[in-house]
Amino acid sequence: MSLLLAVEPEIEKAAMAARARLGGRTPKIGLILGSGLGELAAAVEDAVAIPYDDLPGFPRLSVAGHAGRMIVGRFGRHDVAVLQGRQHLYESDRADSMAVPVGVLARLGCSTLVLTNAAGSLLPEVGPGGVMMIADHINLTGRNPLARALGDGRFVDMVDAYDPALRARFQALAKARGIDLAEGVYMWFTGPSFETPAEIRAARTLGADAVGMSTVPETILARALGMKVAAFSLITNLAAGMGGSHLSHARTLARAATGAAKLKDLLVAFMEDPA
Ligand code: HPA
Repeated sequence: MSLLLAVEPEIEKAAMAARARLGGRTPKIGLILGSGLGELAAAVEDAVAIPYDDLPGFPRLSVAGHAGRMIVGRFGRHDVAVLQGRQHLYESDRADSMAVPVGVLARLGCSTLVLTNAAGSLLPEVGPGGVMMIADHINLTGRNPLARALGDGRFVDMVDAYDPALRARFQALAKARGIDLAEGVYMWFTGPSFETPAEIRAARTLGADAVGMSTVPETILARALGMKVAAFSLITNLAAGMGGSHLSHARTLARAATGAAKLKDLLVAFMEDPA
């Protein structure tokens, strides 16, 4: 196989270190949980927890609400691998800071990657505590996790990056549970400062429905590695200048809890019966 990511040797090393602790578990679904959803991992049965510190090339995390552990175990009929926490561009100044974790999930056999984040909403009807499934994204940060990747595999098709069949499946699961699941376009901002009201007006003009500081690079990496992607934003606030209160990380975490219960229900239903 030709080398795609420059960090492929690190991915191999970390995958070997992980496999040595998995006791034959073979995860098919990977989840990367952002602010407010880390405790979903508690629902994984017969779980092995591996701290990122034990996995070469995994990031060191600095954000409250991101535990920094990989949990692998049984969920319904399948094994899953849950990454509790991510590193953001603003922590590392590297768009590919999640290349090793995403690569390890792929190497362990995960064919589907589910991503969650906390985000600000540009839709007045989807306020704090709401959940938006990502249908598409906008990346005008000028950064890309494949910037130093090699070969033709770096020219990744991003049409239907958020898998239409998975989205239909999640909408059906939400409907059956009476969960209101919005769907829209997520725009990636680098952070860590929140957006200005003028930036939010610009984002709306460009077609954004939610804004946040993560997820997009992981989606690009996962698509490059051939994984199907589904992604969800827990709406913690209306975006800057939309009449809400001032933004803070503490408020982000507090509000994430409300939507987290809904999203947790949905993810549990999906993992129990992904087909
Ligand atoms: N902007 C960017 N990231 C966020 C926001 C926001 O308004 N809320 C939670 N994460």
